[in-house]
This record gives sequence, C-alpha cells and structure tokens, in this order.
Amino acid sequence: MKLNNRVALVTGGSGSIGGAIARRLGAEGAVVAVSYVGFREGAEQTLSDIKAAGGRGDLVELDQRDPDSIENCIRVISDRHGTLDILINNAAWNIGIPFPDLDALTPEVWDRVLETNLRGPFLLARAAASLLKSSGCGQIVNISSAGGISPGSSSIAYSSSKAGLNHLTRCLAVAMAPEVSVNCIAPGLVEGTRMAGNLPERAAEGARRQAVLGRVGQLEDIAQQVVTFCTATSVTGQTIVIDGGMPGAMR
Ligand SMILES: NC(=O)c1ccc[n+]([C@@H]2O[C@H](COP(=O)([O-])OP(=O)(O)OC[C@H]3O[C@@H](n4cnc5c(N)ncnc54)[C@H](OP(=O)(O)O)[C@@H]3O)[C@@H](O)[C@H]2O)c1
Repeated sequence: MKLNNRVALVTGGSGSIGGAIARRLGAEGAVVAVSYVGFREGAEQTLSDIKAAGGRGDLVELDQRDPDSIENCIRVISDRHGTLDILINNAAWNIGIPFPDLDALTPEVWDRVLETNLRGPFLLARAAASLLKSSGCGQIVNISSAGGISPGSSSIAYSSSKAGLNHLTRCLAVAMAPEVSVNCIAPGLVEGTRMAGNLPERAAEGARRQAVLGRVGQLEDIAQQVVTFCTATSVTGQTIVIDGGMPGAMR
C-alpha cells in the first residue's frame, strides 16, 4: 500500500469524483476523512465502501463557503488524528448558465461559485498549512477543470474559478515549499459522475468523439492521478488535464 497510515481529507467525498478518490486513498492505506455539506448519506456510502474494502476513515462536516466551518473541519481532523498529510480540494459548486447570457450571471451566483471553488480551497490550505508542513510528506491536490484552461464549461464563473484554482496551485506550490507539494488535476467530462449524468447523451457522445483517444476521463483515472501526485517527491505546481485528449485543452 502506497499511502499507509497517511491521514487524508477529501472535500466533497460525498460526491462522484470525491467518493472515487476517497475509496482509492482508503485502498492505498490512508485514513480518510470524508467531507460532506448537505448529502451526508453520500459520505456515509463512501465511508462504508472504504471500510468494506478493509480501509479506515471517518466523516467530517464542511461548508467551505464558511471560514468558521473550514477552521472547525481542520480542528476536528487534528483532534482525531493529530496530523493531516494529504488535502484533496475536490468540492465545488456549479450551475449551468450559457456563456452569452451575461445578465443571468448575477453577482450572487458569481460570489457563490468563486467562494466555493476558489476561496474555499485557499482557506482550507491556509487552515491546514501547519499540519501539512509538519507532516513530513504534505501533499495538496486540487481538482480543477479543463474549463479553467479553455473557455467552455457550465458557466463563465465556473471556468474563471477553475482558472483561478490552476494558478492558486502554482502560488501555493511556491508558498508552501519545501515541506508541501501542491498539484492539480483538471478533468474534462468524467464518465459516471452526477454531472455527466445530467448532460444530454448527445453532448456526452460529442465529447467522446472530440477526444483524440476516443474516450473521456473515467473516475479511476482521476483517483489514480491523485495517488501518483501523492507519491511523487519532485513534482509541484503542476496541473494535468485528464480529458481523453481534447485538442483545445492541450498546452
Ligand atoms: N464531473 C465531471 O465531469 C467534472 C469535470 C471537470 C471537473 N470536475 C470537478 O470535479 C470535482 C468533483 O465533481 P463531481 O462531479 O464529483 O461533483 P458532485 O458529485 O456534484 O460533488 C460535488 C461535491 O462538492 C460538495 N460541495 C458543494 N458545495 C460545497 C460547499 N459549500 N462546501 C463543501 N462541500 C461542497 C458536495 O457536497 P454534498 O454532496 O454534501 O452536497 C459534493 O460532495 C469538482 O471540483 C468539479 O468541479 C468534475
């Protein structure tokens, strides 16, 4: 097992990608704190899957729009485990607003998206910084989006928040070195997620056709890359796109 006894927090572990990451970290021997904000049953299911596979973990409540909730979440993990080695900033919020419909993108929507998807990961890194630095193998993996690289996604706010997260990754990699590595995964459409399920089949099929590998990302691809980052010793400040190879997101 590659991550034996490391303590990991997976934000949004109640969701599709967070659940897959949490299960994989659990299978690699990590003790996984699975966070949820509204969907406790989803987090319970993730934790029960981890335990059924012989892994360890627990649940933690986190509303990452709320700075007090962030501080409390990290305090709970510190009290329970005495350390935090891995922070997976996976949780995010979005809403579908077509790019040309500028009027529909209100200040309230903009603020909610940016608070959740960009300020939240920063405040989590800030709250966890001393634990991660003293861990001896501190790792942060941010889950961004290919929409943060090429201008297309559920909304301008979402794309902008994820572009910010890509750059926050580089800034934190500098700020938290040499004790903590900070990397980022930018998925395109990921099969088997709630978001993919909400898309008309025509749109999902179009994405598969555009991908030069003829397939889009799978849940296991994202989880595998998280483990790769968490076991790398000389990689930081990097964002890797996992989308089956969309020419628009190749840089
Ligand atoms: N699915 C895709 O195809 C795709 C593509 C590109 C990027 N991504 C990125 O991958 C990540 C996971 O997406 P997903 O598809 O797994 O989404 P999902 O199933 O909808 O899960 C989203 C998670 O975020 C949590 N969350 C939302 N608002 C929160 C808040 N204020 N505080 C704390 N947690 C909050 C949710 O908690 P509750 O369940 O408790 O409400 C849920 O666990 C996101 O960063 C997303 O942007 C996904």
